[in-house]
Amino acid sequence: MGRVTGRACIVTGAARGIGRAIGEALLEEGAKVCFADIDGDGVATVARENAARFDPQHVTSARVDVTDRAAVRAMIDHTVETFGRLDVKFNNAGVNKPMNFMDVDEDNWNFVMGVNGLGCMIGMQEAARQMMAQGRGPDGMAGKIVNTASIASRQGFDNVAPYCASKFAVVSLTQSGARDLAKHGITVTGFAPGVVKTEMWEQVDRDLMEIGASARPGQAMEEFSASILKGRVATPPDITGTTTFLASRESDYMTGQIVMIDGGMTLV
Ligand SMILES: NC(=O)c1ccc[n+]([C@@H]2O[C@H](COP(=O)([O-])OP(=O)(O)OC[C@H]3O[C@@H](n4cnc5c(N)ncnc54)[C@H](O)[C@@H]3O)[C@@H](O)[C@H]2O)c1
Repeated sequence: MGRVTGRACIVTGAARGIGRAIGEALLEEGAKVCFADIDGDGVATVARENAARFDPQHVTSARVDVTDRAAVRAMIDHTVETFGRLDVKFNNAGVNKPMNFMDVDEDNWNFVMGVNGLGCMIGMQEAARQMMAQGRGPDGMAGKIVNTASIASRQGFDNVAPYCASKFAVVSLTQSGARDLAKHGITVTGFAPGVVKTEMWEQVDRDLMEIGASARPGQAMEEFSASILKGRVATPPDITGTTTFLASRESDYMTGQIVMIDGGMTLV
């Protein structure tokens, strides 16, 4: 028996990186997973590849822009039509676009806050609406919402001010949602990765060079991660033991909390 056997889950931002790894780890422990992303071709490919590895009836995909409420509802409807219910919703889609603090403009703010902040809130609300309507599952669970925060949820870093603001927002949304949804038995938690080697970081590295904040490829990641107590940056599998735990019964008594998974970068 896996820790999440039979659970119907949605993971957003699942065409690659951390989201894809979260979904695959859930499948490995018996869950049913809808891989969702704005990159519709990307998640269709991820779903196809996983349907060949796991029970094909446990895998589906949806194209979604997490800032578009109608599209989020359609993704949830598709998941419920496919798996019969929604037990766990991961709000993981996220973006970053580094700019010097004094250069941040409304477009940069709205883009980053839109996906990371508003997208998280819409995702929480629409998942909770479905969880309330369907009632508790066969295992007695009312539903779990898991949000992707960051070390940038704990400190404001240079050159990524809107990103930090948006990830602080994820923490407060997790707390507010936990307080509001407790009466329905729905828990809301989050996890905060540190530096994870994904395409997001590769792009951030290029962007930081472009704005003159670093001089050579890899420099920003090296400098940024110099204080990791574990002595190395993370890869997505470093994250997924915890994410599956947050989707499982083992975390039932947790709500409103963010779990740091940063190798010991931020000791708060
Ligand atoms: N990589 C890190 O070091 C790191 C650290 C802390 C937190 N995080 C967070 O983890 C999450 C995943 O990051 P990652 O490193 O895997 O990034 P990534 O860029 O590799 O993947 C993000 C995915 O989100 C999708 N996406 C972007 N905008 C979307 C939208 N509007 N609707 C739906 N999907 C959208 C992208 O298409 C992409 O597939 C993000 O929330 C990120 O902020 C990452």
